[in-house]
Amino acid sequence: KQFDFGIVGLGVMGKNLLLNMADHGFAVAGLDLDPAKAEALTEAAAAGQQIKGYTDAEAFMASLKAPKAIMLLVPAGRPVDAAIGSMLPFLEKGDILVDGGNSYFPDTDRRNAELAEKGIHFFGMGISGGENGARRGPSMMPGGDAQAYERLRPIFEAIAAKVDGDPCVTYLGRGSAGNYVKMVHNGIEYGIMQLIAETYDLMKKGLGYEDHKIQSLFEQWNSTELHSFLVEITATLLKKKDKETGKQLVTLVADQARSKGTGKWTSQNAMDLQVPVPVIDVAVLMRDISKFKEERIAASKLLTWSEDSKPEITEEELKDALYFGMISTYAQGLAQLKVASKEYDYGLNLEEVAKIWRGGCIIRAACLEDFRKAYKRDPNLPNILLDEEIGRDLVGRQASIRKVAKIAIDKGVPLPAYMAALGYFDSYRSASLSTNIIQAQRDFFGAHQFERIDKEGLFHAQWDQTDLA
Ligand code: 6PG
Repeated sequence: KQFDFGIVGLGVMGKNLLLNMADHGFAVAGLDLDPAKAEALTEAAAAGQQIKGYTDAEAFMASLKAPKAIMLLVPAGRPVDAAIGSMLPFLEKGDILVDGGNSYFPDTDRRNAELAEKGIHFFGMGISGGENGARRGPSMMPGGDAQAYERLRPIFEAIAAKVDGDPCVTYLGRGSAGNYVKMVHNGIEYGIMQLIAETYDLMKKGLGYEDHKIQSLFEQWNSTELHSFLVEITATLLKKKDKETGKQLVTLVADQARSKGTGKWTSQNAMDLQVPVPVIDVAVLMRDISKFKEERIAASKLLTWSEDSKPEITEEELKDALYFGMISTYAQGLAQLKVASKEYDYGLNLEEVAKIWRGGCIIRAACLEDFRKAYKRDPNLPNILLDEEIGRDLVGRQASIRKVAKIAIDKGVPLPAYMAALGYFDSYRSASLSTNIIQAQRDFFGAHQFERIDKEGLFHAQWDQTDLA
């Protein structure tokens, strides 16, 4: 028994994580049914490193130090159950299984319960950062048994991305906490991607900016408070030319967007928990509407709008509006985590979540340090918009997003994520909402009763016997 850690599934993520571990001095093994992948892993070992690829589960399991620590990196869903099934005969009490995929969190809870009966510790762990992250330092979001995590901690802390020397991994909480946090991470990822895409559209169709100007603005913005992985890669990808045509490659990319489900799960579960995440909802539905290409083409000919005013907005205002939208998106996702932690008894510490999202992951951004500080000031903060510093900052920037929204409306450019970010802000800052009318309507047609602001109790009124003329 020689290996500290094993991974099942030697796709690019599995292989890169193992190489990352080996770089940090761990002896590691991998298992894949494909002999080419197993061999490639063994061959990837640098001098002095202990890395071995296996195709036989029994031999792989026998090579791991006790208690065994094994990560599954197989597609979410049935393949995870199948992989667990094939590991089971070789697992002993106290062994640890980590699911490193984007599993649906209720599946993790089920697997957790099934394996706990056998004395096996199961972790659902979101891993973010793609291939490069896996190789050079991902952000990792593990949830499961706190004590068992100690077996994993040295390895994960060694391979994680570091920000100011702090590893972008920490024990997050009980049960499916890790998968849940990664799911919301992806929801926020969807939201920010959509906001950036809309910013591009606004500049191109609404303001008539040249491609090179749009590109250089994203590049400049990445050196401001907008500094983030997603702004950075957008600036880079806009520079890519198609070799054959010489055109900007992104202009040749089909506009039907795909997805693997994590953003949708975030929205679905937010609805279950009755916590609003409108920017994430919009980001999911924009990918959906993008698929109706033929209908959109037909509609573009029938449902026309043209308007020739010359909108005026500064580059600074555009930047402020995008920043406002991004903060609104994080606020929604983090507020969802707050509610979910209570509902599912995860025991999340949002300061820690903000901290491990600062590096390695797709939604890493300068603002996460501000959020970490906000949760440090008040660990029970229900929403980062209620933090004095963050809130005041947005108050100062709101004129810009209102301007963007007006241009979008005047020009008919679809900016629903911007609208949702602003609508959330305006709703959240309304001490009184028009939902009193909803309550009255419900009581009118369904006798559902209503509460009053001036006295306790539940009331019902004969709404059709009106007193007003
Ligand atoms: C990450 C990404 C990663 C993956 C998503 C993309 O954090 O590294 O979120 O998990 O790229 O699955 O999701 P869609 O395919 O749904 O856009």
